[in-house]
Amino acid sequence: MKQILGIICSPRKLGNNEIAVKEISRRISEHHALKLLRLSDFNLRLCKGCYLCLFKNHCVLKDDLPVIIDAFCQADAFIVSAPAYCLGANASLKVLADRVLAFSGHVKEIWGKPAVGISVAGLEGKEGFTKLNVDNFMRLFLMNVKASEIIYAALPGEIIIKEGNLSILDRLATALTGDVIEPAEPRCPLCKGDTFRFLGDNRVRCMLCSNEGIVEASDSGVRIHAQRSSHELFLSEQDAMDHGQWLAGMKSKYQDNKTDLKAVTAPYKEIGEWIKPEKREKI
Ligand SMILES: Cc1cc2nc3c(=O)[nH]c(=O)nc-3n(C[C@H](O)[C@H](O)[C@H](O)COP(=O)(O)O)c2cc1C
Repeated sequence: MKQILGIICSPRKLGNNEIAVKEISRRISEHHALKLLRLSDFNLRLCKGCYLCLFKNHCVLKDDLPVIIDAFCQADAFIVSAPAYCLGANASLKVLADRVLAFSGHVKEIWGKPAVGISVAGLEGKEGFTKLNVDNFMRLFLMNVKASEIIYAALPGEIIIKEGNLSILDRLATALTGDVIEPAEPRCPLCKGDTFRFLGDNRVRCMLCSNEGIVEASDSGVRIHAQRSSHELFLSEQDAMDHGQWLAGMKSKYQDNKTDLKAVTAPYKEIGEWIKPEKREKI
């Protein structure tokens, strides 16, 4: 492992997320360089949903994304760390996740690199869906998720001094260069996700890979059974490539149906009064 990229989704300098990433790096005996990205340092615009990146092989928004794509391609492994903000991960993680289509031309360069995730929450039990956000991020960017943990720490530095935290960081360090740590059952048999929506009649949907499954409770515990769907997003490298192709194919579907679609949308154009910012930046 030559280069580990720490992706820090907290704007707070020398806060718990930054320290967590650095402490994990310190605990990895294998020689490596630690590169760090604090997402809030970057000018990252919101994806505008134009899909042009699928055809031009780069995003048309003029911002710092190319630096980040380059860092992802150069890295051999990732540590992704995000603080809970309002029961989910800090928004910088989602802003970058939404730009994932601009990485489509780099699937082969980024596929399957080992990664560990950290979700830091200030209040015990109040992490909300932060871990789901972090896991989703690692899957979207086609990482080989070795482990993902929630750690509680509020004040900057508590990540180190709060009892039990160092052993979690140690586990993550070991996992990054070693074997996968499977989340406890019940977990999704397809993606190892541990968050589910209950659909009724013992059916659940995994909130990570979005596949539907059945919950089975027995004396040995609760298990989820699920099967791949016909359209997967990231379970294999081929799935990721196929999904990219499917997205690109939507262009011709749009061209074929453009007239009908315009007829549906046109009547909505003038409804309502838009409130606009005083000075609109041109994108
Ligand atoms: C705006 C904001 C919202 C937060 N929301 C939550 C939350 O929903 N749940 C929680 O447990 N902690 C919450 N926290 C606390 C942070 O997750 C916690 O302090 C964390 O250690 C910050 O990481 P950092 O030191 O790397 O910035 C919030 C902090 C801020 C600033």
